[in-house]
Amino acid sequence: MRHFLDIDDLNPSELARIMNLATTPNPPPVLAGKGAALLFEKPSARTRSSTEMAVVQLGGHPIYIGPAEVGLDERESVEDVTRTLACYSAVIGARVFAHDTVKRMAAVSAVPVINLLSDAAHPTQAVADLLTIRAARGHLEGRVLAYVGDANNVAHSLAYAAGLAGMAVRIASPPGYEFSEADLRRMRRHGCEPVQVQRPAEAVNGADVVYTDVWTSMGQEQEAEQRREDFRGFRVDRRMMARASADAVFLHCLPAHRGEEVASTVLDGPQSRVWPQAANRMHAARGLLLWLMEQAD
Ligand code: CP
Ligand code: NVA
Repeated sequence: MRHFLDIDDLNPSELARIMNLATTPNPPPVLAGKGAALLFEKPSARTRSSTEMAVVQLGGHPIYIGPAEVGLDERESVEDVTRTLACYSAVIGARVFAHDTVKRMAAVSAVPVINLLSDAAHPTQAVADLLTIRAARGHLEGRVLAYVGDANNVAHSLAYAAGLAGMAVRIASPPGYEFSEADLRRMRRHGCEPVQVQRPAEAVNGADVVYTDVWTSMGQEQEAEQRREDFRGFRVDRRMMARASADAVFLHCLPAHRGEEVASTVLDGPQSRVWPQAANRMHAARGLLLWLMEQAD
């Protein structure tokens, strides 16, 4: 049995297998008669809906458990909640504040645990991102991905995934918002070598994909004002996109803060692939569920 807490749980061929399963027509109903517990400590539009629909497409029954019901470590310990949910479900997905929570769940779970976003990682998003880039640019190997903004959970999983798929990754972040040395060392051990730069232009010049995410992630709301100051000059606008390759595509995991990290002219512009990217969340979730059920056989 396998869990999926971050992309570095996978090797390159496992990642490729999940992506292929994501695009396989007529998937078998591997979850027929089974539950999928989806537990959320934070809000979600895409992740909840796309995962629920992927479960339905595989014949299963999604059970959404919202923040009010969870009470993790308040009403009941993380471990006991996990043991309980595993009695009724073939898989548990969780969106949590602390990454340690999904690790604790995986440590005691009798069924696979999927990280649906933590403060450290957003791996199901990264699989959808790669599907989107592959569809837009034909292949992944050798493509250059420029990430502009906070080296956050999304950037983290994306850098791993792009590295595993043979892409070159450049990330531009203001001082204090870069990957830590420990992160970079861990990425290198998995064959991912993101190049960290400080000026967005250095990352974006000639890139095949330009990616950004919010400057203030869920749970950091009290830092929003400071971050708006610190990320000045990091907005992806038409001028910045003009530095990328002429056929570059723009991606954003969404939700976007229009006029902050991205100009509406880019988000709604001809290079934007954010809606196919959102749609790919469902296909990625289906591929991942198929793979986890294969591993559990
Ligand atoms: N991209 C993403 O995870 O969106 P939600 O927060 O709406 O799930
Ligand atoms: N980095 C963002 C991603 C939301 C999907 C956050 O964690 O809030």
